[in-house]
Amino acid sequence: MSSDTLNFDDIQGDILVGLPKRVQQYIIFQIGNNVAGFKQGLTQLLPLITTTTQAMRNRAAIAANKKAAQEQGKTPELLRMSGVNIAFSHAGLAALKVNDNIRDDLFTNGQQDDAQALGDPGAFSGFPIRHFTPSWDAAFRNKTHGMIIVAGDSNETVAETRQRVEQCFNVGGFNATISEVITLGGHVRPGDQRGHEHFGFMDGISQPAVKGVDTSPNPGQDTISQGVILCKRDGDNTSLFRPSWAKDGSFLVLRYYRQLVPEFNTFLEKNPIREGNLTQKQGSELLGARLMGRWKSGAPVDLAPFQDDPDLAEDPTRNNNFNYTAQNDNRGANCPLAAHSRKGNPRHDLRDMPIPIPLEPHRIIRRGIPFGPELSSEETVSGMTSQERGLIFVCYQSNLSDGFAFIQKTWANQPLFPPKGLFPPVPRPGYDPIIGQVNNAESARSIEGADPLAPTGSLSLPMEWVVPRGGEYYFSPSLPALRSTFAA
Ligand code: HEM
Repeated sequence: MSSDTLNFDDIQGDILVGLPKRVQQYIIFQIGNNVAGFKQGLTQLLPLITTTTQAMRNRAAIAANKKAAQEQGKTPELLRMSGVNIAFSHAGLAALKVNDNIRDDLFTNGQQDDAQALGDPGAFSGFPIRHFTPSWDAAFRNKTHGMIIVAGDSNETVAETRQRVEQCFNVGGFNATISEVITLGGHVRPGDQRGHEHFGFMDGISQPAVKGVDTSPNPGQDTISQGVILCKRDGDNTSLFRPSWAKDGSFLVLRYYRQLVPEFNTFLEKNPIREGNLTQKQGSELLGARLMGRWKSGAPVDLAPFQDDPDLAEDPTRNNNFNYTAQNDNRGANCPLAAHSRKGNPRHDLRDMPIPIPLEPHRIIRRGIPFGPELSSEETVSGMTSQERGLIFVCYQSNLSDGFAFIQKTWANQPLFPPKGLFPPVPRPGYDPIIGQVNNAESARSIEGADPLAPTGSLSLPMEWVVPRGGEYYFSPSLPALRSTFAA
C-alpha cells in the first residue's frame, strides 16, 4: 500500500478528473500478431495520452473561458481540445505477456463470464452443465484486447485526434498492429438536454471526492480514500498481492446500454402519482423523479419531495446535501428505498444499521456519455423505440467485486436492499427500476413505495427499460506502467 503523494502526471486523465467531452469515441481493438510492433506503436502513443494534470488544465481553461464570456454577456465559444486514454482487458495483458495476476477474478474471467450474475438477459445451453450466453451484440461476444478513448469538443477534433492515434499503430497500412472490433460513438445531447441522459435526467451530479484530489468537497459529498479508485493506494485492500505496475491504475467497467425511452415515458404516463391536486402530467413527472431519486433537473427528491426545484438542482452546495434521514424516509416517504440514486449510493441507510456497514469500498467514479439520436416524433407517437439510443456507461474503481459488480448484483438487483428494520413486516424496497435486472424475466420486477402515500404499495414494472448490449472489464494503467511494462 502506497501513501506517497499522488503524481498527477502519472495517472490517466479520465479516472480522477474526466476528459472534457462533447463527443467521444471508444475504439475497441484486438492486438495483431506483431506484438513487438504494437508495443512500438504504444511508445508513439504515449505523448498523446492525456494525464490527470492535462485534464485538470483543460477543465480550468474551460471554466476560465466560460467566466470571461459571462462577464462580457456573451455565450462562451467552445474551446478546441481533445483527450486520449487507453485501457486493456485481461486478454490484452496476456497478449502483451504482462504479468497478469492482478488479483481480480472478474477482470481475469472477463465481463461475459459475469453476465449471468449481473442479471443480463441471455440463453442457456448444454447438458448436464448449463452454459449461459448473454444476448449481447456480436461485437462483444469475443474477448477483445483493449480500448482507446478519444474525447473532444466536436466530431472534427475527435476525427483528427483519432487519425493521429491510428497512425501510431499503422491502421490502414498492410502492417497495422491493431484491428478495430467496434467503435462506440457517443455525444452529449443537444440544447437544454446537455448533460442529461436519454430518459431526460441530469446525470453526473454525485461523484465521491477523492482524498488529495478534490480538496474542497461540496456539502454532502463524501471523501473517499485514494485506494478505492486507484490500485495500491491507501484503501485498496488487495494492494499487497498486486504487481507493482498496477499502482495508480484503475479498473474501467464498460457497459453498452440501450435505453427504451418511449416505452419508459409511456409507463410514466400510464401510472401518474395521484396526489392532492397534481395534474396527470405532474403525477407522471413525480413518478419519474421517484424512480430515479432526482427530478429531471437534477434536484434530489429527498430535498424536493413533491415539486421540482431547479435552483436547488443547479446549486452544488445543496444538491448533494442529503442522507435519506428525513422523517419517514425509512419507509421511503421522500425518496423510495429502491430509487436508482438511493440504491447506487445509499448514504446513511447503511450507517443506520444496528451494525453499520461501510459504504466507502462500494463507491465508484462514473464517466460515460449518451449515444444515439433524439426521439423522433414517430417514436413519441407510437411509444415504441425504432432507433438505437442509450448510454455508454463507464466507471472506475480499484476492485470490480466491490465497485460496479457489487452495486449491480447486491444492491440494484436485490429486492430487499436497502434493508430496513429487523422485524416483520420488513419493507421490501424492490428492484432498482432503472438498472435492476433478472435474467430473462422481464416482468418480474416491482418496487414498493413509488407512491409517497402508499409506502408498502407495490408498483409492477412491466419491462426493463435499460438493456445491456455488451461490455468488458478493462484496466487503465498508470503512465509509468505504460512506459515501462506495456510499451516497447
Ligand atoms: C442507462 C443506465 C443508467 C442511467 C440512465 C443512469 C442514470 C443516472 C442518473 C440520472 C443519476 C442521477 C444523477 C447523478 O447523481 O449523477 C445516476 C446516479 C448514479 N448512478 Fe446511474 N444510471 C445508469 C446506470 C448506472 C449503473 C450501471 C450504475 C452502477 C452499477 C449506476 C450507478 C449510479 C450511482 C452510484 C449514482 C450516484 C448516486 C448518488 O451518489 O447519489 N448507474 N444515474
